[in-house]
Amino acid sequence: MTAKLKKVYIKSYGCQMNVYDGQKMADLLKPHGYRITDTYDDADVSILNTCHIREKAEHKVFSDLGRLNTVKKDRKNQEDNNDMIIAVGGCVGQAEGEEITRQAPYVDMVFGPQSYHRLPEMLAQIEQKVKGKRRKIVDTQFPAISKFDFLPAANETPASAFLVVQEGCDKFCHFCVVPYTRGSEYSRSAKTILEEAKHLISLGAKEITLLGQNVNGYHGEGPDGSEWSLGRLIYALAELDGIKRIRYTTSHPLDMHDELYNAHRDVPMLMPFLHLPVQSGSDLILNAMNRKHTAADYLKIIEKLCIACADIKFSSDFIVGYPGETNKDHKDTLELIKNVGYVQSYSFKYSPRPGTPASILQTQVAEDIKSERLTELQDLINAQQIAFNQSMVGQTMEVLFEREGKIPGQVVGKTAYMQSVTLNGDSSLFGNLLSVRISNGYGNSLSGERI
Ligand code: SAH
Ligand code: SF4
Ligand code: F3S
Repeated sequence: MTAKLKKVYIKSYGCQMNVYDGQKMADLLKPHGYRITDTYDDADVSILNTCHIREKAEHKVFSDLGRLNTVKKDRKNQEDNNDMIIAVGGCVGQAEGEEITRQAPYVDMVFGPQSYHRLPEMLAQIEQKVKGKRRKIVDTQFPAISKFDFLPAANETPASAFLVVQEGCDKFCHFCVVPYTRGSEYSRSAKTILEEAKHLISLGAKEITLLGQNVNGYHGEGPDGSEWSLGRLIYALAELDGIKRIRYTTSHPLDMHDELYNAHRDVPMLMPFLHLPVQSGSDLILNAMNRKHTAADYLKIIEKLCIACADIKFSSDFIVGYPGETNKDHKDTLELIKNVGYVQSYSFKYSPRPGTPASILQTQVAEDIKSERLTELQDLINAQQIAFNQSMVGQTMEVLFEREGKIPGQVVGKTAYMQSVTLNGDSSLFGNLLSVRISNGYGNSLSGERI
C-alpha cells in the first residue's frame, strides 16, 4: 500500500520572484509525498510565501495567519485531529524571523527566501513530534552555498515561464527592504540558466521572462569562464530552438549596458516592452532616495532604447509622497510620465519600512496628500494606457494564449506589450502565438478576432 499523499497549500504574495519561489517550493515537496491543494481547508501544511515591501502587504499576511489559526483550532476539536502545520516563508519570514512566532505562537515554521530549499527536511523535522509536542523551526540564514544548486527542475510550465537569473540587491534605495530580505546580488551561471530554459521549452514554454531584483545587473559566469552580461545571455537564449519570446524584469536604470541596448536592436524575440522603474521625476527626490541618477539620465536611457528599437514602450514603478516630496517634485514626476509616454505603470504611496533610512525622516508627507497625488498620477497613467490600447484597434497583433477568460468560451493571451487580449476560443489555443485583429481597446485589456 502506498502512503497517503499529504496536502500542501502554498500562497505567494508580492513580486514575480516570489511566484517563482512558490512554484519551486511545490516542485521540492512533490517527490516527498506532498500534493498541492488550492485551499487551506483540508491542507496538512499551509505555507504563506510572503512579501514585506509595504505595510499593507505585511498586514495581509497577519490577517491570513489569523484565518489559518481558526482552521487549526477547529481541527483540534475534531475526532481525527488532523493538525495543520503553518509556515511563514518569503520576505516577511526573513525580516521578522522569530518575532512572528512570538506574535503568532501557532506558527510552526519560519524561513526566508534563501533557505526554502531545505523545506522537505524542515517539514520532516517538524512532523517528528518530541514527547507529543512539535518543535518550532526558524531558519533565516543566508547560506554560503547557493540554494539554486538544490532546486529541482520543473515538471510542468505555463506557456509563459519565469526563470530567475539574478537575485538580491546591493543598491539600498532609502525606502526599500529588499536588500535586507533577499540579501546581496547573486548571479547564476549562464550554463545553468540555459539548461533551465531548454527544459522549460521542452515542457511547452514559448515565452521566458528572466527575473531578478536588478536583472540587468546580471553578471554570471559564462560557459567559457568569462563574465556574461544580461545582454550576452539574451543573445544566447535567442539561439535556443523553440523560444518565441524573451523578456526581463525588473531592471534598474544604472545597470543598462551596451550589449543590452544591442540585444534590443538585434534580437527579434526580445519583446519591445520594458519595465524600467524610475520612482520619481524629481532630481531632489531621486537623490534623497539614493537612486544615484537624475531624471535627465533616465530620459537619456529611454532615448537610447528607442534608437535601438523604434517601437519599444515602457512601464515603471512610482512612489508618491516620499519624505520631503513637495508639490513641485510631484509635478516633475507627472511631467516625466508624459515625456516617456508610459503605456502602463505601478504606483504606490510611500510606506515607511522598519530599518530603512527614509522611515525615520522627520519630513513624512501627510496621508491625504499622498492619496491626492496618487490619484492624480494614476489618472494620468490610465489615460495614457487607454489611449495606447485604443490605438491598437484595427491592428493585427501577435498574441500568446495562455489561460481561460472570465467568461466561458473565451481565452486570454498577451501581446508583445503585455496587454491582455480576449478572444472566443478554447484551451486548444493555449501555448499558441496567433495573429489577432484587435477590435476593441479598453482600460486594462483588448479584444479581437483571430485571422
Ligand atoms: N528592484 C526593483 C523594485 C523592487 S520593489 C527596482 O529597483 O525598481 C517594487 C516596487 O515597490 C519598487 O519599484 C517601488 O516602487 C515599490 N516600493 C518599494 N519600497 C516601497 C515603499 N517603502 N513604499 C512604497 N513603495 C515601495
Ligand atoms: Fe529596492 Fe532599490 Fe534594490 Fe530595487 S534597486 S530592490 S528599489 S533597493
Ligand atoms: Fe516583496 Fe520580497 Fe518581492 S519584499 S516584492 S516578495 S522581493
